[in-house]
Amino acid sequence: MIKRCLFPAAGYGTRFLPATKAMPKEMLPVMAKPLIQYGVEEAVEAGMDIMAIITGRGKRAIEDHFDISYELESQIKGSSKEHLLDDIRALIDRCTFTYTRQIEMKGLGDAIYKGRVLIGNEPFAVVLADDLCTNGTEDGVLSQMVKIYNKYRCSIVAVQEVPMDQVSKYGVIAGKKIDEDLFMVETMVEKPDPEEAPSNLAIIGRYILTPDIFDLIAQTKPGKGGEIQITDALMAQAEKGMVMAYKFKGRRFDCGSIDGFVEATNYFYQQQKGEA
Ligand code: UTP
Repeated sequence: MIKRCLFPAAGYGTRFLPATKAMPKEMLPVMAKPLIQYGVEEAVEAGMDIMAIITGRGKRAIEDHFDISYELESQIKGSSKEHLLDDIRALIDRCTFTYTRQIEMKGLGDAIYKGRVLIGNEPFAVVLADDLCTNGTEDGVLSQMVKIYNKYRCSIVAVQEVPMDQVSKYGVIAGKKIDEDLFMVETMVEKPDPEEAPSNLAIIGRYILTPDIFDLIAQTKPGKGGEIQITDALMAQAEKGMVMAYKFKGRRFDCGSIDGFVEATNYFYQQQKGEA
């Protein structure tokens, strides 16, 4: 059973300045719900109940969000707005939230490594909350990945086909197709130029990692952009045939970019209007 989900949330979110000057990017709302709450709900749906969040300076709003606000609750008790806190209250009751800080932004690999103390020696999921994923009323992306993990017991990265002129924004994989939508990863390149990309299968912000990844990250030297890249550590696992790439079912919005964020907002607005 995978019980723990890690949320690297220490980045500066510079593409959303000035909004992210004093507010974490992960707290930007799509409709009335912050991005990180969508991620936590996806993890809960996949059976996880320990949320390990990597924060940094200026990110305290995340901790306050996953805590009870007694003053606010007593203020709206009995009013027509009381139900607006139901979902977040249910998450707080069900999950344990743990935190540690990444002191310097040394890359996603380093942020994940900082989570070692919160994760221990067990397989775990990773959610980058700025990738907002939905599969409507069907299994969410993490649920789909847990099923694959239970069968193969190795690290899994979620991938999506992207246009060739977009590959330089992602880690890109190539591998042996072993099932519909499933590949055994043979190569991974971080942010390749289109002409160097081994395919157009881009890694998005959902991972299941086996705990040996921590020692591999510890051995990883800074890579592209001077950052500790998770793809470099994953490549060491892939060399042993221990990484699968899964083409997930559902939609993913890149809410770290203005375009993706607006797209997600329109999508969820239409969904809500449809249900009304
Ligand atoms: P991004 O590069 O998309 O996020 O990292 P960013 O740096 O916050 O955004 P921009 O580019 O400046 O707008 C992907 C994820 O990894 C986390 C980020 O918080 C984000 O969720 N991350 C990245 C860390 O936690 N620490 C890092 O050192 C780097």
